Amino acid sequence: MKIIALLNEKGGSGKSTCAINLACALHRSGRQVILIDADPQGTARDWREASPAATDLPPVIVLDRPELLLTSIKTLVAEIIVIDTPAKAEKMSANVVRIADVAIIPVQPSGADVWASAAAVKLIQGKRDIGGTIDAAFLPTRVSSSTNLSRDILAGDWNEYGLDMLDTAVSNRVSYAQALTDGVSVYETRDGLAKAEIDLIVKELEEAAWL
Ligand SMILES: Nc1ncnc2c1ncn2[C@@H]1O[C@H](COP(=O)(O)OP(=O)(O)OP(=O)(O)O)[C@@H](O)[C@H]1O
Ligand SMILES: [Mg+2]
Repeated sequence: MKIIALLNEKGGSGKSTCAINLACALHRSGRQVILIDADPQGTARDWREASPAATDLPPVIVLDRPELLLTSIKTLVAEIIVIDTPAKAEKMSANVVRIADVAIIPVQPSGADVWASAAAVKLIQGKRDIGGTIDAAFLPTRVSSSTNLSRDILAGDWNEYGLDMLDTAVSNRVSYAQALTDGVSVYETRDGLAKAEIDLIVKELEEAAWL
């Protein structure tokens, strides 16, 4: 079982959007996936409740208390567990990093977002410092394709730990917000470009043997 967490203490960085679409992509590829909603805000839970009954989507389980997460996750049976985590929740973030095999940090191309990701980076580094293993990378989100500014900001020298950045970025596309609102993923929309970028993220994670 692989546990992959979407993590960033910065609110609105795209954690839920990325968690939902990655979980759906993996579910569609035939893997047994559970999406955990570790955020008391309940975005993934609400998303799933809004899903049309006939749509084949992965199950969502709410584990939004840090202690509950640690004990309950051991009882789950799945090939891949995707965890959507809350913003500004140190204890939950620490517990998520403790159990995660892979941490993906969605980060929007702005200084404020980049600086706020330092908390997640420190948790990952802390796990490695005590001999723990965790693969981790930034995932640029809401990137505007019309400018190089996004990449420039994200490629700055702020990343003192030298954490990787995925080659694929999630673009700013209305279909992400629409799919979330409709209780589906971008795979249920007509936005071929959004589907293609989620496919590429999965491919990148598989090629790195992180999945
Ligand atoms: N790639 C994208 N393109 C367009 N809109 C997006 C994209 N990613 C996220 N959004 C929108 O931005 C808002 C915040 O996204 P999301 O809920 O995924 O962030 P979050 O990190 O989970 O937020 P929180 O910290 O509150 O849990 C939502 O309204 C979502 O629909
Ligand atoms: Mg969220």
